[in-house]
Amino acid sequence: MTAASAPPMIRMAGVDKFFGPLHVLKNVQLEVPKGQVVVVLGPSGSGKSTLCRTINRLEPIDSGVIEVDGQPLPAEGKELARLRADVGMVFQSFNLFAHKTIVENVMLAPTKVRKIPAAEARKTAMELLERVGIANQADKFPAQLSGGQQQRVAIARSLAMKPKVMLFDEPTSALDPEMVQEVLDVMTSLAKEGMTMLVVTHEMGFARKAADRVIFMADGEVVEDSTPEEFFSAPKSNRAKDFLGKILTH
Ligand SMILES: Nc1ncnc2c1ncn2[C@@H]1O[C@H](COP(=O)(O)OP(=O)(O)OP(=O)(O)O)[C@@H](O)[C@H]1O
Ligand SMILES: [Mg+2]
Repeated sequence: MTAASAPPMIRMAGVDKFFGPLHVLKNVQLEVPKGQVVVVLGPSGSGKSTLCRTINRLEPIDSGVIEVDGQPLPAEGKELARLRADVGMVFQSFNLFAHKTIVENVMLAPTKVRKIPAAEARKTAMELLERVGIANQADKFPAQLSGGQQQRVAIARSLAMKPKVMLFDEPTSALDPEMVQEVLDVMTSLAKEGMTMLVVTHEMGFARKAADRVIFMADGEVVEDSTPEEFFSAPKSNRAKDFLGKILTH
């Protein structure tokens, strides 16, 4: 397929989501073409995490359509497992298996879910650990690594499933300040290599430099959808102006 006819990597159309009476995603329309890096900004409670979680179906939606690479999200079973492999997700907390070594953490899903032979999975895991700069820590346990190193392992672990798209939900928020940059550097190189990425972050430097596009959410709605230049220099809505005023004066 040519680029022009290729489906977007992520397509959300008319997506609504409720938690009980709370309307947390309101008629969300979002198309992310292959290779694009989208940063999602917005105040606390605006629905950023929920948006991410609906894309790999950690949260079901109440109406609308979500497609990944042209395929509607499956509800359950084998198809859902495949979707979860295609859509990598990195959270604030790394959730590595404490009793497995770093390299074993990265090998686990490929061997268990994709049934890749252990030797091959180990080779790929080592290449990924090399790529995120921690191959020399491969035989240590998670508790022996810094937060920034553990988060890089979590990224390598997601990449081991060869995802088509990566979702990041505040991947640096739990890190000590001096470890933030090493994780952002890994994300920036992933972006340069052409990975499609949706990134919830408060790191405005990353948003300005690495994003192709900024989505601003408020109260469950996508209020602005623009380039970083436009968003930071000339936000259109009062809610975005207010938000930027608060974070940029911090
Ligand atoms: N499992 C849940 N059950 C009920 N309400 C929920 C649940 N998860 C989230 N919410 C509510 O949905 C709304 C959106 O939450 P969400 O976590 O998506 O916001 P967010 O933009 O990620 O916020 P933050 O910046 O604080 O992470 C909030 O009002 C939140 O309290
Ligand atoms: Mg959140």
